[in-house]
Amino acid sequence: MKMLVTGANGMLGQDLCPYFEKKGYEILRTDYDTLDICNEEMTKKVVSNYKPDIIIHCAAYTNVDKAEDDIENAHKINVIGAKNVAKIAKEINAVMVYISTDYVFDGTKNSPYLPDDKPNPINVYGKTKYEGELEVQKYCEKFYIARTSWLYGHKGRNFVETMISLKDKDELKVVNDQKGCPTWTMELIYGIEKILKMPYGIYHVCGSNSATWYEFALEIFKQSDLKVNLVPCLTDDFPRKAKRPFYSVMKNSKELNLTRDWKLALSDYLKLRGDN
Ligand SMILES: NC(=O)c1ccc[n+]([C@@H]2O[C@H](COP(=O)([O-])OP(=O)(O)OC[C@H]3O[C@@H](n4cnc5c(N)ncnc54)[C@H](OP(=O)(O)O)[C@@H]3O)[C@@H](O)[C@H]2O)c1
Repeated sequence: MKMLVTGANGMLGQDLCPYFEKKGYEILRTDYDTLDICNEEMTKKVVSNYKPDIIIHCAAYTNVDKAEDDIENAHKINVIGAKNVAKIAKEINAVMVYISTDYVFDGTKNSPYLPDDKPNPINVYGKTKYEGELEVQKYCEKFYIARTSWLYGHKGRNFVETMISLKDKDELKVVNDQKGCPTWTMELIYGIEKILKMPYGIYHVCGSNSATWYEFALEIFKQSDLKVNLVPCLTDDFPRKAKRPFYSVMKNSKELNLTRDWKLALSDYLKLRGDN
């Protein structure tokens, strides 16, 4: 089975490629230099030369705050890029997996978002990722949309590493009024492997159960045996350029449980820290 991965040098791509390689897939790792998804001709050429059975589309404009002032680039990468990949996937009859985000939702619900809930993004990143979802659905029939959230992995800047790097501060204030589902990259990857055996469509692939950023930080320090003076605070105490949904907890139908409790996944991540 041949797999092509876009954005292979990103946080998710760097964990995903070796995992599927070990599972026997032949992988073409591409990133900006070898496959600029904004360049339609290049995308067509690289993908049709390789003829993958599956394309995992990890490439994206992911800087949520920067996107607010850089709308054109965010749109180019997240919308036009997704469209270019979806069109060629359809042409060569490949399956496409588009990684999306909890930020497609506005956060006004008070029970977990389900895959059929209507997106209503409140920032540029979320809007462009949602438009990317629509392009994928429009151009490609054999698609999976895997929405994930609060992602952390060994190969990228992320919340877990940021918290641990701040452990010596006298006092660490962390936002306690945004709730979501922390997700280890490997948990997302195991989930992608599972959905590849399921019907095409939209899936929520994030850590099970939820936490606020403050509760997430508490658990990181508890599991790491670190004593840190954590203080809960409000979103308003840390003004950011982009608005974030206050509640972006996601799940699938009652019958479909793709992932483990986020605390269990965190424990595996912390055990492997240092081996990487
Ligand atoms: N991180 C999260 O918390 C989170 C949460 C929910 C969903 N997601 C989604 O998960 C996916 C993977 O995220 P990640 O955290 O691994 O992101 P990441 O580390 O920022 O990786 C994205 C990759 O895409 C590449 N890229 C950007 N523009 C490109 C272009 N025009 N052509 C080809 N490649 C391009 C980037 O290359 P350069 O570095 O050279 O620009 C980077 O290697 C994304 O779709 C993201 O939207 C992430």
